[in-house]
Amino acid sequence: MSSRPDDSADMPEPSGMRKGLTSYGDQGFSLFLRKAFIKGAGYTDAALDRPVIAIADTGSDYNACHGNAPQLVEAVKRGVMLAGGLPMAFPTISIHESFAAPTSMFLRNLMAIDTEEMIRAQPMDAVVLIGGCDKTVPAQLMGAASANIPAIQLVTGSMLTGSHRGERVGACTDCRRYWGRFRAGAIDAEETAAVNNQLVASVGTCSVMGTASTMACIAEALGMTMPGGASPPAVTADRIRIAEQTGAQAVQMARDRLTIDRILTPAAFENAMRVLLAIGGSTNGIVHLAAIAGRVGLEVDLQSLDRMGRETPVLLDLKPSGQHYMEDFHKAGGMATLLRELRPLLQLEAMTVTGRTLGEELERAGPGFRQDVVRSLADPIYPQGAIAVLQGNLAPGGAIIKQSAADAGLMEHEGRAVVFENAQDLIERIDSDALDVTPQDVLVLKNIGPKGAPGMPEAGYIPIPLKLARAGVKDIVRISDGRMSGTAFGTIVLHVTPESAIGGPLAHVRNGDRIRLSVKNRELALLISDAELARRARATPVVEPTADRGYRRLFLQTVTQADQGVDFDFMRAPTMLGKVPRS
Ligand code: FES
Repeated sequence: MSSRPDDSADMPEPSGMRKGLTSYGDQGFSLFLRKAFIKGAGYTDAALDRPVIAIADTGSDYNACHGNAPQLVEAVKRGVMLAGGLPMAFPTISIHESFAAPTSMFLRNLMAIDTEEMIRAQPMDAVVLIGGCDKTVPAQLMGAASANIPAIQLVTGSMLTGSHRGERVGACTDCRRYWGRFRAGAIDAEETAAVNNQLVASVGTCSVMGTASTMACIAEALGMTMPGGASPPAVTADRIRIAEQTGAQAVQMARDRLTIDRILTPAAFENAMRVLLAIGGSTNGIVHLAAIAGRVGLEVDLQSLDRMGRETPVLLDLKPSGQHYMEDFHKAGGMATLLRELRPLLQLEAMTVTGRTLGEELERAGPGFRQDVVRSLADPIYPQGAIAVLQGNLAPGGAIIKQSAADAGLMEHEGRAVVFENAQDLIERIDSDALDVTPQDVLVLKNIGPKGAPGMPEAGYIPIPLKLARAGVKDIVRISDGRMSGTAFGTIVLHVTPESAIGGPLAHVRNGDRIRLSVKNRELALLISDAELARRARATPVVEPTADRGYRRLFLQTVTQADQGVDFDFMRAPTMLGKVPRS
C-alpha cells in the first residue's frame, strides 16, 4: 500500500486493505483512518500492500478439539508470508460438542452467520477457515459459501488414541461403550473414572469416524482442503505442514480469484456424498451437506442419495462401523487411498482449492501401498453405503438409518411402540423397573427435532432401558426426530421428517402401536390407518414451540427441517438451481 492518503481510484477492483471500506461518507478518509489504526499494531506500508489472507481462528479454552489452534494459526501465517501475503487472524464463535447448551446444533447457524458477516465486514482477499469440532466445519463452509470469496478449510485434526488397562481407547465410541458397561453394572465407578482419563489422549477432534472426522473427509472430498488435509492428527508435524501449505495456497487462491462457487459445484457435492457413504460417515454429514448445498442453491435429493448408497460400499474400516481410528487412516495414506479406490464412482472434473481438479490431484498423489484400513471396492467392509433413507407414513419427508452401524438382526423388524414424549420424559422413565418394555419393542422419542428440543440434539441415541441392559440386551430399534453422534452405533432411525413438534405423524404415535422397520424396503411405517392418524391429529393438535425474544425466537421462527439442513430459511440461497446428487 502506498503512503498516498487515497489511491483507491488507481485500482479497478479494490483488494487487500482497500476492500470493504467503512462508511464515513468519504472513501479517502475511510482508508486513511483504517491505515492509521492498523499501523498502531506496527505494520508498514509494504506489509499492508500485500494480499490480505484472513484466518478464522476458533481457538477457545472451552474447545479442546481446537486446542492446537495457536500452532495452526502460526503455521498458516508462515505459509501466507512465504507466499507473499499478509496474514490477519480474527476470532469467531467456537463450538464444542460437550460445552454447548442446549446443543451445539442450536448454535451452528449462529456461527455460520458470524463467519459470513465477519468475512463480509473485514478486508480480505481470501480466508483460511480453521475448524474441527463437529459443528464448526459445516458452519464455516456455510458462511464462506454465502460470502463467496476464495476460501480454504483447515481442520484441526484428530486426537490421539489412549490406552486403558492394555486396551486402545478413543473418543467417543469408546466413551459410549464404557458408559454402557457402567450402566449395565459390568464395571465400577473406579474403573469408569480411570478410563475417563484415557479416552481423550490429546487435543484434537474425536478419533473415530464421528461427525468431526466425517466433516474433515467431506471437506477434502468437496475440494475445500489441501490434498491430504483431512487425516493428519492434531499434534503431528504433518498437521502443521498442512497448515503452512494451506496459508500459501490461500495466497494463490486470492491471486487467481478462485472463489468458493467454483469449487462447491454439484460435482463436488456428489463426491462428498460418495465419500460420506464410503467412510461409514456420521448421519450428521447429510444434514450439514444439505445446509451447505442450500447456501449455493442446491437441494439434497434424499431418494437419489439412497440410490447412490446402494452402489457405494463402505470401504473405510474405522470405528464405529469398523475397528480402526483416524490416526490409522492417516498412516494408511488418508483420503488419497480412499479416493483412489472410489475413483470409478467420482466426478474427477471437480475443481479443488489447488486450482487443479480432483482427478489431477489423484494423479499427483501417485500409487497406493499395502495397508489394512481402506478396503477395495471388491472387498468392502459393508456392501452398501453406510446410510439408508427410509420413508413411509411415519416419515413422509424421510428418515435415515446408519445401517452399517446397526444390528443386522433388527433391520427387518416389527414391534410395539414404547413412547417417550420428550427428552425429559425419557430421562425420568428409561431406567425405571416399572417401564413396560421388551427387547422386541420399538422405542420412540418425540420432540427432539429442529424446533422440538430445540436444535435437534444428539439424543436420538436412546439408551437401552436399564432393565434390558442388565439382562444383556445390546441393541433395540429406536426412532426419533433427533440426531445422533457419529460415534454412536445401534439400530437407530433418525431425522424423522416432519418432526413431531410441528405436527408430523411422529407426534401421534401412542404406546402399543405397531411400527414396522424394513431397511431392505426402505420403509418406516406406523401400522394404523390414515383415517386413524388424521383423527388423532384433530383430537390432539400440536402447538408449535415459540420464544419471546432473542436468538431462540429467531431460531424457532425460521429453522428448517432436517431435509433442508436445519439452516435458517432466510440464509438459504434465494433461488434453488437444482438437486444433488443429480440422477
Ligand atoms: Fe469435538 Fe468430538 S467433541 S470432535
